[in-house]
Amino acid sequence: MKVRVLGSGAGGGFPQWNCNCDNCAGFRNGTLRGQARTQSSIAVSGNGTDWLLINASPDIASQLQAWPEGQPGRHKRDTAIQAVMLMDSQIDHTTGLLSLREGQRLPLYCSSQVREDLNKGFPLEPMLEFYCGLEHRAIDPDGKPFSVPEVPGLSVEPVPIPGKAPPYSPHRNDPHLGDNIAVRISDLNSGSSVFYAPGMGGYTEQVREAMTQSDCLMVDGTFWREDEMLWRGVGDKHAADMGHLPQSGAGGMIELLADFPQRKCLIHINNTNPILDEDSAERATLTAAGIEVCHDGMEIAL
Ligand code: MLT
Ligand code: MN
Ligand code: ZN
Repeated sequence: MKVRVLGSGAGGGFPQWNCNCDNCAGFRNGTLRGQARTQSSIAVSGNGTDWLLINASPDIASQLQAWPEGQPGRHKRDTAIQAVMLMDSQIDHTTGLLSLREGQRLPLYCSSQVREDLNKGFPLEPMLEFYCGLEHRAIDPDGKPFSVPEVPGLSVEPVPIPGKAPPYSPHRNDPHLGDNIAVRISDLNSGSSVFYAPGMGGYTEQVREAMTQSDCLMVDGTFWREDEMLWRGVGDKHAADMGHLPQSGAGGMIELLADFPQRKCLIHINNTNPILDEDSAERATLTAAGIEVCHDGMEIAL
C-alpha cells in the first residue's frame, strides 16, 4: 500500500492568506524555518495505479500538479483518482470536489450525515449533478470493513470519531454518529494498515482498538494548545469547540500516542501551531516522543 500526503495543513493552509500570526509572518519574512503546507488530503493505493482520494482539498489542483503519479496520461482525459472518500463535510475537506467537475461521474464514499450536509448546508451534490455528478456510496460509520471496487487490494474499516460537524451544518451543535469518521485502511495482500483521522475531537475504546491494529497512525495535528487561537491572538475558539484534540496537556495527543509503538504522524496542522517551526521546542518535544509531522508530498509505503 502506498500513501501520498497531498496536503498536510488545516483549513487555510500555511501560511494562511490573511494571517500574520508569529508563524505565518515568520514564514513570510524568512525568520521561521519550516515548510508551506496546503490543506489536508491524502491518496491511498493498493496497486500503485488506482488511487482513493481521502478528503478533497480546495488546494487539489496544485496538489495534483505536484504529484506525477496522479496523472498517468493513458488517454486524452485521465486521472489516477478512481474514487473519493470523505471523513467529514468540512469546507477544507470537500470543496476540492468542485475542481474535479471536469471528470467522469465520481464515486463518493461518505456517511449519511456528511451526505446530508452536502445536500442541505452546502449543496455540492445537486450542484455537481450539472457537471460530473457524484455516485453516492454509503459508509455506515460503525459498519464492517468494506472494499472499494474502484481501488482494488484495499479494505476500509470505518471508525466513528468524536468531533464536530462544520460551522455551516444544521447539526453543528447536535452531534450525530457519522459527522466525523476515521478509517483504518488495510492492504489485502500485505496485511499492513494505516489509521487516518485528520479530525479527532477525542477518542473512544473503539478508536484505541483500531489504532492498536494499525501499522501507521496519521492523526489530527491541528493544535498544540487547547487555547491556541487566543494565545496567538487570532481568534477565540478553543480546540474543543472546533472538534480537535490538542497535542499538549493532560489527555492530549502526545499522551495518547505514547501508548502506541508504531509509526505515528500528525496531519492537518493549523498555521498557528508552533510545531510548524522546525526549530521550536514543541517540535523537539514531538521528535523526542517519536512523532513525525507530515509534509506535503510525503509518501509512506506500507
Ligand atoms: C477545522 O478542521 O476545524 C477546519 O480546518 C476549519 C476550517 O476549515 O476553516
Ligand atoms: Mn479542517
Ligand atoms: Zn497564521
